[in-house]
Amino acid sequence: MNHQHTIHLSHAAISDALRKSGCVFAEDEARMLMAHASTSDELKSIMEQRIDGLPLEYILGWAEFFGLRLVVEPGVFVPRRRTEFLLRQAIRVIPEAGVVVDLCCGSGALGAGLLAVKRNLTMYAVDIDPRAVHCARQNLPDHARVYQGDLYQPLPSVLRGRVDVLVTNAPYVPTEAIARLPQEARVYEARMALDGGLDGLDIQRRIVASAPTWLAPGGHLLMETSSLQAHQTLDLFVTNGLVAQIAHSASADATVVIGERSTVSARVR
Ligand SMILES: C[S@@+](CC[C@H](N)C(=O)[O-])C[C@H]1O[C@@H](n2cnc3c(N)ncnc32)[C@H](O)[C@@H]1O
Repeated sequence: MNHQHTIHLSHAAISDALRKSGCVFAEDEARMLMAHASTSDELKSIMEQRIDGLPLEYILGWAEFFGLRLVVEPGVFVPRRRTEFLLRQAIRVIPEAGVVVDLCCGSGALGAGLLAVKRNLTMYAVDIDPRAVHCARQNLPDHARVYQGDLYQPLPSVLRGRVDVLVTNAPYVPTEAIARLPQEARVYEARMALDGGLDGLDIQRRIVASAPTWLAPGGHLLMETSSLQAHQTLDLFVTNGLVAQIAHSASADATVVIGERSTVSARVR
């Protein structure tokens, strides 16, 4: 005879198991897992996945960012709370109905956050990873244009010299530092979402080098970086003719370089 055992997992039991596996917000996570599962078998299964280290966001299928619930599918970079600092800096410089490009958009977090505050923006977003593009298309409204491709390559060329604000949280982890990232990033997020090459600046370098040709006069480039790399990122901006400064939030552990294309065109001799 086949005896079926009903497994009853209480909030306390799940919190306890999660805490023992190293979850910092075990009680909150237990509550979210319980709300997500439709059967006790499913609850047991997702609890085990979480204990094995699968990021909560991939289990739930969404991440919270700037008060929004964004779709994130496995492998796609989970938007970090620190990136809300870049978003807030961008809100300060974006004209109400400006043209904005989010390069390396991932799930579309920055574009979605900006459109939540300024609905009349014309938004373009680009990512090289088709899984990220699939998420961004769900997270951004239909009027936003989301392209798959390498940095500026898929953008319509009529945008050259007309972008008011370029926002980007491109990969900036030096290759050798990836091994020291938490398991949730190192194992579960796509390598191309993290790896910034030997010094971490490979993609930033390419973005900044072309930014002046896409920005309108007086337009801004905002780029997340780490506090350790901030001065190197700043140098890239200055070398490429942008007037730039570093903005830092100790409470959010967030660093952003903000550059402006001069309104005065360089005189050709
Ligand atoms: C650190 S994640 C940031 C995602 C998103 N901006 C965010 O803050 O949540 C970097 C993203 O850059 C994308 N990426 C990497 N290389 C790229 C390239 N050459 N062109 C376009 N996107 C790229 C990755 O697929 C990944 O989604």
